[in-house]
Amino acid sequence: MQAKAKYRKDYKTPDFTLSNILLDFQLDAAKTVVTATGNYKRLNPQATELRLDGQGFQFASIKINGENFLAYRQDGESITLDLKGIDAEAFELEIVTYLVPAENTSLQGLYQSGDALCTQCEAEGFRQITYMLDRPDVLARYTTRISADKSKYPYLLSNGNRVAAGEYEDGRHWVEWHDPFPKPSYLFALVAGDFDLLKDSFTTKSGRSVALELYVDRGNVERAEWAMQSLKNAMKWDEERFNLEYDLDIYMIVAVDFFNMGAMENKGLNIFNSKYVLANPQTATDEDYLAVESVIAHEYFHNWTGNRVTCRDWFQLSLKEGLTVFRDQEFSSDTGSRAVNRITNVKFLRTAQFAEDASPMSHPIRPEKVLEMNNFYTMTVYEKGAEVIRMIHTLLGEKRFQQGMQLYIAENDGKAATCEDFVSAMERASGVDLGQFRRWYSQSGTPELTISDDYDEKKHIYRLFVAQLTPPTADQMDKVNLHIPLKIALYNQKGIPFTLMNNGQVVSDVLDVKLKEQVFEFHDISSKPVPALLCDFSAPVKLNYDYSNRQLITLLKSAKNEFVRWDAMQMLFSAELRRNISLYQQGEELNFSAEIMEALADVLTHYQDNAALTRLILTLPKETEFAEQFKVILPDAIAAVRDFMQRSIAENLKELWLNTYNAIRLEQYRIEAEDIALRSLRNLCLSYLAFTELGNTMVHKHYQHANNMTDSLAAMEAAVKAQLSCRDNILGDFEQKWRHDGLVMDKWFSLQATRPDDNVLLLVQQLMEHPSFNFNNPNRVRALIGSFAAQNPKAFHAINGAGYRFLTDMLIRLNHSNPQVASRLIEPLIRFSRYDSQRQTLMRRALERLNEVENLSKDLFEKIDKALNS
Ligand code: TRP
Ligand code: ZN
Repeated sequence: MQAKAKYRKDYKTPDFTLSNILLDFQLDAAKTVVTATGNYKRLNPQATELRLDGQGFQFASIKINGENFLAYRQDGESITLDLKGIDAEAFELEIVTYLVPAENTSLQGLYQSGDALCTQCEAEGFRQITYMLDRPDVLARYTTRISADKSKYPYLLSNGNRVAAGEYEDGRHWVEWHDPFPKPSYLFALVAGDFDLLKDSFTTKSGRSVALELYVDRGNVERAEWAMQSLKNAMKWDEERFNLEYDLDIYMIVAVDFFNMGAMENKGLNIFNSKYVLANPQTATDEDYLAVESVIAHEYFHNWTGNRVTCRDWFQLSLKEGLTVFRDQEFSSDTGSRAVNRITNVKFLRTAQFAEDASPMSHPIRPEKVLEMNNFYTMTVYEKGAEVIRMIHTLLGEKRFQQGMQLYIAENDGKAATCEDFVSAMERASGVDLGQFRRWYSQSGTPELTISDDYDEKKHIYRLFVAQLTPPTADQMDKVNLHIPLKIALYNQKGIPFTLMNNGQVVSDVLDVKLKEQVFEFHDISSKPVPALLCDFSAPVKLNYDYSNRQLITLLKSAKNEFVRWDAMQMLFSAELRRNISLYQQGEELNFSAEIMEALADVLTHYQDNAALTRLILTLPKETEFAEQFKVILPDAIAAVRDFMQRSIAENLKELWLNTYNAIRLEQYRIEAEDIALRSLRNLCLSYLAFTELGNTMVHKHYQHANNMTDSLAAMEAAVKAQLSCRDNILGDFEQKWRHDGLVMDKWFSLQATRPDDNVLLLVQQLMEHPSFNFNNPNRVRALIGSFAAQNPKAFHAINGAGYRFLTDMLIRLNHSNPQVASRLIEPLIRFSRYDSQRQTLMRRALERLNEVENLSKDLFEKIDKALNS
């Protein structure tokens, strides 16, 4: 393995830059000829060598200023031109390369998806097309000329505006595109294929009309309408909330079936995983609809935060991703329910991002060291990055935050910026000191706040003692104190919040925690309060406060803040799980707290006050969510206790579940927050009822009467999870109905992979032969293999090591076909330090076996190396 890491501290401005480039593609799936003609300029007068990145293509020729050029040397990943013989101030470089998109299973660079050809260039995929200054701080104007067979590829698309087109006599045709905005190579895109096209338009607030075009596989146009509506909503919202308007005359989105991630924000030509475009009531669940809306918005928002202002180097990735996730979260919150969105995002962060912090891959939102950039499109850079932006928003308030945004854009438009440029703009626009706050960018790990309190009955003074500590992480031993915004509320026993006062002054409900230990004092508190701490998850930290069940039940029942109520129940569930895990380990009988059961009943009885919140509160955390609370994870114990809790709640509240299930009536299927909430609550009732003697009949009936995918899938899932006798019938029916549709079958594959049955691994192995499965399609691989490894902890961590061996076999295959997908799938295996020594040994052995594989990709090597050597 000859991989060399890059360090953030080593950033140097480029010696040369590229101002314009003409890309000529003679497309053919079996042999594409690319001629790249670029105008280069020297920035460093001392430089006499130009090093260009490039790999994975056949190189034909190179010319400088029209003359054949031979003064170069090559290695496996670059070409270096010796320019001493020419006037290097400014010159034209022409490079010809040959590509074989049909054989490119990595899905980076130019590849084939179904019958179409498309590109994926972020982060470093452009270099698989031609030799290039493939770094985000080199911004050029692109002209793209595409020629291809007209019947196979009637649409030829690239960035910017379509400026010319024509036909050849041999059945080929050509189109030329020009993008007026300078951009880095990672935002380049090309698509060729036959599609159905959904057209619409949007008039910007300054009155310009923008053509909107959405390209999907033939026959799918009616599944594109929701995405189109979401796009228009996002465009409008960005004008209203951020004062940002679209800048080209055309905006195109293409949905493809073979795609490594969610979607890509290429300038004017987004390319999407079809999973985040296609939706109709028969094929998509409510959750799918919301995910489409949010990814469509995310990619659109990148047009300003990512494209107009891009990143100087890849260490700055969170500059565009953290900020854009924050923007899409705000969009979803303004469009739908803010509380539901916040709770969903926090659940996700606490599970997946906290786990990443505790893993060998731990890194700050602005990493210091990278071997393979694709490994850093992480929960930390994206979701924790968004939390850091959210904290700035909390500290500044909406008005000053928006002033900061305007300054940031004004100063950096058309440039490649850094995280520091962003924080500095926020600071100068608002006058708020973010000096200590900046440490969030350089420090990794999950900080812990340990809080205690006392109440002076005589003086009516309440004090909070707050201590912060960030435990060491795999990448960073020494930690410093952070600036943590801690949002609180103090409730009296009736659930009414006290006004926060100090020396006669009203004080903010956001406490500035900056020291290792700090005391906050509140006056005129007339009775001992119940504190709500870390309201709305005001910082991405863990909270230690010794709540009693009584206090939590008070918060659950009467807090005004919906997040606080949900979070109180989360803490109650955790306490209940821990208590029962001890019993389980001592071989004693498990039991469920009567007061918590009563509290659950109370919430359910009042579901009409807030159906969405009721559903969230009553949803038992998944095994993987519970697992995050333990230093050493006990997969069997967690599964057993969770199962017990689920059955107890089901049985004890049976009548309430049934009454609620029957009371909720939804005739027509509508995607509206209110209906989504009721549907999900009704399906939650069903998921509990499945564990009672009513289960089999009700679930089967629910499936048969379902008129939408949300309900069908809920029934199928309930049948599988509760191992009902109607299960095979439903699974078989679903399979017959959807076997032609990979996207829908992913739900089925994923459910099969998470079955509680003992023989689930065998089943997964058999399903790899299923006609709907395709090992080269990342969605299929993630649905079947990924779900098994990451969402079925009990089976994956089976003590005979079979789960580890299976994943390792799959990773060895994927290492060759698609390293980027392999590298995401390996995650559960590298986290061995969280398990008992027997499992650790087995997991290490699996990693050692992988480490021996010939031609191990950088992607896997970086993670295996960190895991084995930290
Ligand atoms: N920038 C994209 C986004 O956040 C994600 C992305 C990065 C990506 N690298 C990728 C997508 C590689 C597909 C393949 O929206
Ligand atoms: Zn993004």
